[in-house]
Amino acid sequence: MPVEHDVKSLDFSPGGRLRIEWAEQEMPVLRAIRERFEQEKPLQGTRIAACLHVTTETANLMHTLQAGGADVVLCASNPLSTQDDVAASLVTNYEIPVYAIKGESNDVYYDHIRAALDHKPQITMDDGADLVGTIHKSRRELIEDIVGGTEETTTGVIRLRAMAADGQLAFPVIAVNDSDTKHLFDNRYGTGQSTMDGIIRATNILIAGRTVVVAGYGWCSRGIASRAHGLGANVIVTEVDPMRALEATMDGYRVMPMSEAAPIGDIFVTATGDINVIDTHHFETMKGGAIVANSGHFNVEINIEGLRKLSGHDPRLVRPFVEEYKIDGRAIYLLGEGRLINLAAAEGHPASVMDMSFANQALAAEYMLKNSQDLDKQVHRLPIALDQEIARLKLEAMGVKIDTLTPEQVTYLSQWEEGT
Ligand code: ADE
Repeated sequence: MPVEHDVKSLDFSPGGRLRIEWAEQEMPVLRAIRERFEQEKPLQGTRIAACLHVTTETANLMHTLQAGGADVVLCASNPLSTQDDVAASLVTNYEIPVYAIKGESNDVYYDHIRAALDHKPQITMDDGADLVGTIHKSRRELIEDIVGGTEETTTGVIRLRAMAADGQLAFPVIAVNDSDTKHLFDNRYGTGQSTMDGIIRATNILIAGRTVVVAGYGWCSRGIASRAHGLGANVIVTEVDPMRALEATMDGYRVMPMSEAAPIGDIFVTATGDINVIDTHHFETMKGGAIVANSGHFNVEINIEGLRKLSGHDPRLVRPFVEEYKIDGRAIYLLGEGRLINLAAAEGHPASVMDMSFANQALAAEYMLKNSQDLDKQVHRLPIALDQEIARLKLEAMGVKIDTLTPEQVTYLSQWEEGT
């Protein structure tokens, strides 16, 4: 009998298993942690509920936690990001309960979160804070068993910090996103590459020569801008933060308000974490054929309801993940229903970068279990020593060697007398 689950079909398991093993080859840091976990069993008997994108990389994280002795359960962190073959393989080949089906409705999405919470976690592992949010809103009886949580993404960390500021957060959470080995690589290179991958897989268009408008200039959006530029696009950045706008300007991009970019852009990508960044009045001035996609965590950055009302009709699906809206004869193409395009139309970040993000997750779970009694009910970052150890292991796996300070240099850096 398979473990408890709600997945599309267990028949997909063999293909999922092959892809999970393929990703594993690109995750040497996580593999080293798994090998240690197998010996030391630091998570022995700990119930962990994870609400993450169900991908080959997440499967390797689940396998690592399981190797450490944890009793894990997984549900999706987005209705459109699940890889159904991976979900099936986790159930069949790894005996991990999974609740996730690609394309599930919002109601089923929350049913799946509740099913994962029924396993009464002691540690929560979130990507977007939906587990923690649901526990605090409607499953408060679970709080007494929970030692702490971990959070993967910028949007989730923002939500959790808001809860902590309101005095509402009932247990400590480690913001994995705050680790340098997470946001400097996953957010920048992972989102940059996988977002362009999602847009290209969905549309099969040439990027060279197009005007790509990137909303935001945080780590994710600067990755997207850089990769779009690398593919030959003319990149425009829109921002609300003067410092980031200045950086984008000096990085060589044109910076302007979205209202000025709207009539110029061929492709629009949002990654700001905020609502209605592309709004009805922007659609009114866009060129026919404009393509609009989102790479932020929630599907709120594009005002889709506004677009539907403006067009006066339901969209026509012209290719998988490409919906056509007509406004006065002009076609606007919305990709992936405004959900994370890199996970909806492609496979998310490549394994090599998730290696570091999920090494952080595995170490954060171990750290939380050992240290939760010393952590207040706030959002914490993983100790810098662990972050640096992940960087060291990644460099080693990549065959990159670096210098070490000589004793003379160490002494020099610790004194203040010597000057010009
Ligand atoms: N977030 C972005 N890419 C991802 C991936 N490949 N797996 C899990 N979470 C992700």
